Amino acid sequence: MSNYETILVENRGGVAILTINRPDKLNALNSKVHAECVAALDDLRNNAEIRVLVITGAGEKSFVAGADISEFAGKTAITQRNIFYDRSLFNSIDSFPKPVIAMINGFCLGGGCELALACDIRLASEKARFGQPEINLGIIPGGGGTQRLTRLVGEGKAMEIILAGEMIDALTAFNLGLVNHVFSPEELEAKTLELANKIAEKSPIALQMAKEAVKLASRSNLDEGLRREVDLFAICFSTEDKEEGVTAFLEKRKPVFKGR
Ligand code: COA
Repeated sequence: MSNYETILVENRGGVAILTINRPDKLNALNSKVHAECVAALDDLRNNAEIRVLVITGAGEKSFVAGADISEFAGKTAITQRNIFYDRSLFNSIDSFPKPVIAMINGFCLGGGCELALACDIRLASEKARFGQPEINLGIIPGGGGTQRLTRLVGEGKAMEIILAGEMIDALTAFNLGLVNHVFSPEELEAKTLELANKIAEKSPIALQMAKEAVKLASRSNLDEGLRREVDLFAICFSTEDKEEGVTAFLEKRKPVFKGR
């Protein structure tokens, strides 16, 4: 896979692992990391071999400890707005057509928490710590934190996390519904790959339609969501994968989906 300076991208049998690789800075998102992640997502989006994407942080301490604060000094409002407005990493993950799993191995703060929130599924180590500490810097979350966190955990809990700016531990995050599962640090990677591989066996087209349909639930009214779901469901009936899935069930064998 392509060479980058601040991230590592590997293909493990159809599951891509994108590792943000600045462990000495707790994998803080500077503009280079941001640009390389967006470029890697563009690459992976068009790579038919890749069925699922896992995003994680290098080292044992941190997933991503937020935007690189040193880049905030002196930055103008319009520059910051332009970075986040169109082709932000958060939007690139949100619109990624394949399942994205955040493998949260440590600090998951600020833009790191927003990155995880943009993913479809969040799996965490017991050592992970979560938070939106932007308020402590005199700013607010700008990568979707106020919107995605609120949709996931509800307004009251999101308000507390964003207004108090304190960290919460992995168990608290689990109880809030912020993460799907919590594992020991030793188990995290194996459990993540187990889930990723399970998902990677499904029809990529059905996965894409399912993602789109689920995301509609919090972005449209019920009638529109139900109508669009029927359309996306019907699109699956135009695929070879649907014939394969149904035939395999009737023949009592495992389906082999080709993404057609
Ligand atoms: N931006 C830039 N650098 C960061 C960073 C960030 N968001 N988070 C950590 N770092 C750097 C530290 O400056 C330090 O660099 P140095 O060794 O050159 O001094 C290095 O990463 C290690 O961090 P350190 O603070 O020494 O580790 P710690 O274990 O004492 O504390 C945290 C860990 C996460 C509590 C602390 O680093 C922190 O509060 N980071 C900022 C979190 C944040 O506010 N994120 C939201 C930004 S909008």
